[in-house]
Amino acid sequence: MSRIKHFLQFKDFTRAEFDHLLERARWIKAEFKAYRKYWPLSDRTLVMIFEKASTRTRLSFEAGMQQLGGTAIYLNSRDSQLQRGESIEDAAQVISRMSDVVMIRTFEQAIIERFADHSRVPVINGLTNEYHPCQILADIFTFVEHRGPIQGRTVAWIGDSNNVCNTWLQAAEVLDFKVQVSTPPGYEVAADRAGLHGSDHFEQFADPMDAAHLADLVTTDVWTSMGFEAENEARRHAFAAWQVDTEMMRVARPEALFMHCLPVHRGEEVAAAVIDGPRSVVWDEAENRMHTQKALLEYLVLGGDASKINSSREQS
Ligand code: CP
Ligand code: NVA
Repeated sequence: MSRIKHFLQFKDFTRAEFDHLLERARWIKAEFKAYRKYWPLSDRTLVMIFEKASTRTRLSFEAGMQQLGGTAIYLNSRDSQLQRGESIEDAAQVISRMSDVVMIRTFEQAIIERFADHSRVPVINGLTNEYHPCQILADIFTFVEHRGPIQGRTVAWIGDSNNVCNTWLQAAEVLDFKVQVSTPPGYEVAADRAGLHGSDHFEQFADPMDAAHLADLVTTDVWTSMGFEAENEARRHAFAAWQVDTEMMRVARPEALFMHCLPVHRGEEVAAAVIDGPRSVVWDEAENRMHTQKALLEYLVLGGDASKINSSREQS
């Protein structure tokens, strides 16, 4: 079943595919703003499986699917048979016979890879411990809306080398921009990470001010990601000097933007003056989750040429 296109990591798509998605998202957003109906996914079903909490991801996929004329069904592990030990492989077989596309938010990346291996329909990563590709798709769309192409630009990542950071690093390789990362000691991006050794798209700095220096975009995320709550106290101490504040924004380019995937802890990873200040685009960033994921759903279900809609479902 390997011929099915999934979006499990950012690097699953080529630069040409991202160009297509960004252009479709721009058009889809304009149609939405003009209250024009666009229902290419009528009679199609998205199943969303959540093993972790969510506000934006659930809402943007559910609203987005409905706006495309389709239906979204929410499953959480608490009340599905997954919690009671039904195997991922069996769940994938069954769920993908009743749907046209599946979105999963879970723990290890291996879980979603196993699901995709046994799915008849495209699978989208709605966040794993390792990656959050839908977030970076929206972030890049937001950057392009405000500042033009991201190619050749510099993104500063301040804080934890988590799933969102990992996805920025993959995006930099695919779309040809640079990520300057600063984390506290002990939380660095693993030096031997595949594809990053010797990469000119990635540089690590001990001092967060050096990472932010002349950046076009400064971005961060919570110090403790979902699933790692036991480390909360230790991380609060370790990350105290990695707060994005006005002084840090001052060393970035004058036109630099600030982004955060949200939810945020003001006064921890970012000062209120920055996230609520004039350079912050976090509300556009959150809204753009919906527009970009609509483009993603259209692409995965209908293919790159929306005029050539294949009306028969996968029979393999
Ligand atoms: N940014 C993001 O994925 O938010 P949720 O956890 O609310 O879905
Ligand atoms: N890194 C965060 C992102 C939340 C959207 C987490 O995994 O909890």
